[in-house]
Amino acid sequence: MKKSFLNACLAITAAVLLIGPQAGLAEKLSGQLEIFSWWAGDEGPALQALVDMYTAQNPDVEVVNATVTGGSGVNAKAVLKTRMLGGEPPDSFQVHAGQELIGTWVKADRMEDLTELFKAHGLMNVFPEGLIKNIGTEDGIWSVPVNIHRSNVLWYAPENLQKWGIKAPATWDDFFAIAPKLKEKGIVPLALAQNWTANHLWESVALASLGADNWDALWSGKLAFDSPEGIKAWELFGKVLAFTNEDASSLSWQQATDMVVDGRAAFNIMGDWAAGYLNTTKKLQPGTGFGWSASPDTSGQFIFLADSFGLPKGSQNRDNALAWLALLGSQEGSDAFNPLKGSISARTDSDLSKYNDYGKSAAADFGKDRIVGSLAHGVSANEGFMNDFASVMEMFLKTGKADAAANAAQQIAQKNGIGK
Ligand code: GAL
Repeated sequence: MKKSFLNACLAITAAVLLIGPQAGLAEKLSGQLEIFSWWAGDEGPALQALVDMYTAQNPDVEVVNATVTGGSGVNAKAVLKTRMLGGEPPDSFQVHAGQELIGTWVKADRMEDLTELFKAHGLMNVFPEGLIKNIGTEDGIWSVPVNIHRSNVLWYAPENLQKWGIKAPATWDDFFAIAPKLKEKGIVPLALAQNWTANHLWESVALASLGADNWDALWSGKLAFDSPEGIKAWELFGKVLAFTNEDASSLSWQQATDMVVDGRAAFNIMGDWAAGYLNTTKKLQPGTGFGWSASPDTSGQFIFLADSFGLPKGSQNRDNALAWLALLGSQEGSDAFNPLKGSISARTDSDLSKYNDYGKSAAADFGKDRIVGSLAHGVSANEGFMNDFASVMEMFLKTGKADAAANAAQQIAQKNGIGK
């Protein structure tokens, strides 16, 4: 009995020494923590759950939750850039795993290496290998992933489909067979929102057209954007766009999702933050209130992206930020955040009983599907390419010229070192 008590004491002492100040065990944290993201309003509840946990663990730290609204960080990223370049980084900021992190902020030498934090908190082996490659380089580990989202999901309202006597299309041909009939009834076949959602739709359509191998080949520089395959992807995209709403550019992604819920539109292709919005905000139940399937012609393929937070060089409240990052990486933090967010945990030991049917199905797919990286959400290309791609998209939305878009995409790929 005495011996086991002694052993327990030794174990606790060892844990305190090992984890040390980063876990807030040796010293009480105080002051401020400024976190920066685009998760406000409808996108806020999951982040708030983490902030609440952090505040319960560190009651003397005031969390400044700096958010700049705008889906996929369209506005936040510009503000972040100004702050980083101006030498006023937040203590920790949201950044997508992949090239948005590595090819942008790590390349510019703006991030701190988190290897010690990963070791101290047992994070070295809890994330899938494919994900580690998107947050680490030979020189270090650069962010803590908080989730895995799926991009290529088709959303619908089961009751509406039943009413209209249609099924979710498994292929684009299926879609083109039902879309004109929906249009005749005054129903928008595919709801679209502001321009970043066109990029989002493009990646699902391009994957359908190219297949996973060619998709990967685009980003490793082995397949040219202006190859016949590349042009074909834009052609298919043009055909799909013909069945979207004309007021798209003035809508948020939530408004496009609303169109599906209230029956103004039949389908929407959006990342599974839509599941978070539909369930957490709209209180709809997966399976009955909303339905989903892989976007047409991408069954068995999973376009992934991961939100993560990093520690910029020059963080004013470094210890507070390290405690924040440790919480994001923990099983407890992750499983509080993700069921509200619509994403699955980035950890392989997640407690699936905490997730709804959508989350469970996404986790199952992630375990068996072919995984490819998202362009629209930072995995495949750096910020330079993404900014230029926005102009290519704008041009295509105006002109519909597939070969011109494919040529322009090839030029910006070369300019931004894609595949280098
Ligand atoms: C993505 C982000 C998601 C979600 C979405 C819509 O880029 O990874 O977590 O916020 O934008 O804003």
